[in-house]
Amino acid sequence: MIIIPGPTSKELAVEVARLSGASLVDVKSKTFPDGEVYVRILGKVEGEDIVIVHTTAPSQNTRLLELFLLIDAARDIGAKSVTAVVPYLAYARQDKRFLRGEAVSIDTIIRILNNLSIDRFITFNTHDERSLKKFSMEVEDLSAFPLLAKYFKGRGLDGALAFAPDQGAVEGAREASEVLGGGFGWIVKERDRETGEIQFEQRELDVQGRRAIVFDDIISTGGTVASATAILNGQGAKSVYVGCVHPLLVGDALYRIMREKVRGIVGTDSVPSPVSIVSLAPLIAEEIKG
Ligand code: R5P
Repeated sequence: MIIIPGPTSKELAVEVARLSGASLVDVKSKTFPDGEVYVRILGKVEGEDIVIVHTTAPSQNTRLLELFLLIDAARDIGAKSVTAVVPYLAYARQDKRFLRGEAVSIDTIIRILNNLSIDRFITFNTHDERSLKKFSMEVEDLSAFPLLAKYFKGRGLDGALAFAPDQGAVEGAREASEVLGGGFGWIVKERDRETGEIQFEQRELDVQGRRAIVFDDIISTGGTVASATAILNGQGAKSVYVGCVHPLLVGDALYRIMREKVRGIVGTDSVPSPVSIVSLAPLIAEEIKG
């Protein structure tokens, strides 16, 4: 088995190779002055089982193109099988036609991937795993919430309340609570589909004097997690931490969250960032070893 490190996930790919005992073949990548991307696989992959590790975090469009080119190149030069490990699958949040005439973006991305002759697709905490049903190959949607919860537990947060900042994150909070043992809760978030503005349901939460950890799949602008933190602090939580699978951290997201008096933010290396402390490599290595 050979691991191909995509341009956005080099460190993660090296760790996956180390843990799985696979070898690495390097990739050269660049962007031409007009914005087109270029990739070249720098080793022999003919007749080999290939695992491409490449996340599609910002800049998503470039990263997706690189992913498509890497998969197609590996297949075209004779790989025996191709597994794509894409920890963060971009465009998964637009999984419905919320407004008339909108593109269902994730469906389009999956239709493209279905045409690229992939044997297996591995991703993490897709925004809504039902959108993955349109894949025509074998797909694994792994969860990193137990890993994040173990990290917090190892730092003395055993018994903390796992908290979802919206309905979509409840399952993640529930998974985390199984590790932490302190139960889980959630708030209801509504987003205005025209303006993108979010609002939270006002209700009393059972958080007085509790240590709480807000678990979400994605932190983009930080607005969701910052608001959830403000609500928990406002209702008397003793302390609030944040755990996130895909820390996109656009603009001043970290500042927005920290100013709400968060004690710590922990993300995974699904997306490289200043808070990407928990590595997905052990789960990926286990999965590709079969
Ligand atoms: C949306 O439902 C997701 O689960 C995240 O809560 C959302 O994408 C986070 O975005 P932001 O950080 O911009 O609030």
